[in-house]
Amino acid sequence: MKAHFSKAGFILAAAGSAIGLGNIWKFPYITGVYGGGAFVLAYIVAVLFIGIPLLIGEMAIGAIGKKDPVGSFESLAKKAAGVWKNVGFSMLTGLVILSFYSIVIGWILYYLFLSLSTLPQTVEEAKTVFETMLALDIKTQILFHTLSMVITVFIVYLGVDKGIEKTNLILLPILFVILLFLFFYSMSFDSFSLAVGFMFVPDFSLLTPKALLVAVGHAFFTLSLGMATMLTYASYTDKNTNYVKSAIIVSLMEIGVAIFVGITLFAFLFNFGFESNQGPGLVFVSMPSLFYNFGMFGNILAVLFFIALAFASITSAISILEPTTAYIMAEKKWSRKKSVAVFGALVWGVGILLLLSNTKEYSATFTFFSKGLFDWFDFVSSAILLILGGIFTALFLGFGADKNNLKMHMTHFMSDFAFEAWYFGVKYCIPPVLIALMIYMISE
Ligand code: PFF
Repeated sequence: MKAHFSKAGFILAAAGSAIGLGNIWKFPYITGVYGGGAFVLAYIVAVLFIGIPLLIGEMAIGAIGKKDPVGSFESLAKKAAGVWKNVGFSMLTGLVILSFYSIVIGWILYYLFLSLSTLPQTVEEAKTVFETMLALDIKTQILFHTLSMVITVFIVYLGVDKGIEKTNLILLPILFVILLFLFFYSMSFDSFSLAVGFMFVPDFSLLTPKALLVAVGHAFFTLSLGMATMLTYASYTDKNTNYVKSAIIVSLMEIGVAIFVGITLFAFLFNFGFESNQGPGLVFVSMPSLFYNFGMFGNILAVLFFIALAFASITSAISILEPTTAYIMAEKKWSRKKSVAVFGALVWGVGILLLLSNTKEYSATFTFFSKGLFDWFDFVSSAILLILGGIFTALFLGFGADKNNLKMHMTHFMSDFAFEAWYFGVKYCIPPVLIALMIYMISE
């Protein structure tokens, strides 16, 4: 029998995939860089009007096709199945993402370890710690990147129910408890209302086209769209699992967590007079130096914070490795063990090149057109590959798949009217918006 999620297991696993570094690391810092309220609004609109319809579509393909990514696209195509099945190869974006995602998980695991001892006393000191690790400490980065890949590979090796479902079942509730605790704690600061204002009062003059693009790109990244991850997870459901409802629940959870985490971090930051626009170092520089102000309790806060980051990111990392694993097992009859070992080793090896591109010694070797390899991988995957995956998935749903077949299955979980509205949006509205976005991004 094919591996299988329970109903709750599926929602948890999909939420675990969505809620990750995107929420706790990336969303707060891009919100800070792009000016707060208006950006948050753009992100919410992108999730609601592009994210949710595409997530429903991806889940439908998996839940109806019940196969690996390539097999599911092939079995739903009304004709030219051999051409459409190639959309399944959007799963390869996962390998690109995982190779830098794992390095960031490595930093988190290292910081978890650092949080147990002394915290940096000032921002300057915190900056030195981060930059020294990044530019000089190759061994530490390789060590923790390796640890991150070993954990990810091991969980995926254990399989869909004993590995992926169980991990989410344990880690996600702990993650939520920690985030809620930090949120309630941040409510005691005077800066709390300032943080709420920053997140919710929009200043539309800050909403440049670039900010809009970043918001849409982030909606893709954070909902794990455009690389067949949610499709693969949905292929492990039984026929009674309501994936339409699941997609909506997961998206709302995703928005909720992003906003709660955003308010929490900004309340902490503003409380100590930090600026909001500090970029990627927000989590690794500002937060540790701010925790120092709490004395011993600061170490506890720091440990909890990095545990939350580690749990959120591990449940996402496993979802990134699963689609290619499912594909090679189904289509090439590899064992799960061999599949995860080969892909894990590949991602690990590429990851090392990426981390070298951030170091002083090797950055020149791995810099192309004035961007390091690490930044290239991040940029190409979230700005181009995920969106391309989204465009082809939408085109497949609108033009490649048999509408009657989709309708017959999907109207179990939605009304005829809702189906038609969804179908129209995915076929005629989403592809042009995404194509315009791509053209703008490339011409930027
Ligand atoms: N959604 C994850 C995050 O927000 O961190 C990242 C991610 C996971 C992207 C899975 C893509 C994916 F397929």
